[in-house]
Amino acid sequence: DKVGTPMKATLLTSAEEPASYSATTKKVPKPGPGQVLIKVEAAVINPIDAYLLTGKLPGNHHWPIVPGYEGAGVVVAAGDASGEKLVGKRAGFSRFQEAPGDPTPDGSYAEYAITNAFQVYPIDDHVTFEQGSCSFINPLTAIGVIERAKKYKTKAMIQNAAASQLARMYAKVFKENNIPVINIVRRKEQVDLLKNEYNAEYVLNSTDPDFDAQLAKLSEQLQPDLALDAIGGSMSGQMLNHLGQNGVLISYGQLSGEMICGINPGSLIFKEQRLETFLVFTWMASLNDQESARAIADAKKLVEGVVVSKTYGLHEAKEALAYYQANMTAGKVFLKPSLTP
Ligand SMILES: NC(=O)c1ccc[n+]([C@@H]2O[C@H](COP(=O)([O-])OP(=O)(O)OC[C@H]3O[C@@H](n4cnc5c(N)ncnc54)[C@H](OP(=O)(O)O)[C@@H]3O)[C@@H](O)[C@H]2O)c1
Repeated sequence: DKVGTPMKATLLTSAEEPASYSATTKKVPKPGPGQVLIKVEAAVINPIDAYLLTGKLPGNHHWPIVPGYEGAGVVVAAGDASGEKLVGKRAGFSRFQEAPGDPTPDGSYAEYAITNAFQVYPIDDHVTFEQGSCSFINPLTAIGVIERAKKYKTKAMIQNAAASQLARMYAKVFKENNIPVINIVRRKEQVDLLKNEYNAEYVLNSTDPDFDAQLAKLSEQLQPDLALDAIGGSMSGQMLNHLGQNGVLISYGQLSGEMICGINPGSLIFKEQRLETFLVFTWMASLNDQESARAIADAKKLVEGVVVSKTYGLHEAKEALAYYQANMTAGKVFLKPSLTP
């Protein structure tokens, strides 16, 4: 009965003025066939949202746009029988997409959102809406990457930005598979965090003057053959150069905003190394129904580990983004309709 009535939402008006968001009036959307309507309780700001909020996300955007690639709430209506069993459930969801890279104008930073029933991920009672709003992007990336690592029979892995929420998930799933992880962070507090709170065995600080020598020594000991790169720049080449025969660098993030560089062609050629990418949206789209259900079930176990940092109203997207960008290691930042006047 709410369909068609006004609702609050964060709205980006154009690519040229991406920072000019305001809480404004949109209408509660009507779920179509195969879709459900969700009353949103919390929606996370991930790096991909930060790119959209600052006009840096490539893709075919239909302005004005409600940002938010994922969220969580309660499913309140279904467009047809296929979504009926979800009605009344607490769940995370990902933004309705018709094709990868072609998001619809309506995302999770709103009081209500529609998405496909298959993009809804029910959450357990002990999982908060904030944690549940991180059900898709990071946990399914962790599952997709560990599957690739298992296929490659990875012996040991190096990862940078190792204090990120996703990297903490990688560390967990690699440990479950008995694959040692060399964690690289950029601050002493992050070394302490990973060692003391996550029992990480190998943690290096990239700002140490002898960082490269430390990485060389650990690589000699553990023989890593996979590197997960969220940063780009010279760190990409530095990690790849320490991998062994057939080593693979998977580029999955661009946190430094710098071009990938520093790759030694001799190492690439004679050690037959290669550079690959991973993108969760295309990976999920490549799975059949059974594979997708299994990946979602595996990912669910990672959601309760999400660290909640701070919450804001939908009208405070700008402040929330600034806080998130200045305090990324502290945990995830969320927008909540209930905090919106
Ligand atoms: N390809 C895919 O499908 C996919 C899916 C999910 C996520 N991702 C990517 O995965 C990465 C991590 O995402 P997340 O949500 O886990 O992030 P997050 O929890 O917000 O954490 C980001 C971490 O990266 C660190 N960091 C930021 N800029 C850095 C830089 N230039 N050099 C070194 N460290 C830096 C931050 O440390 P400080 O506190 O020191 O800033 C923080 O610890 C992002 O790049 C994201 O885009 C990709």
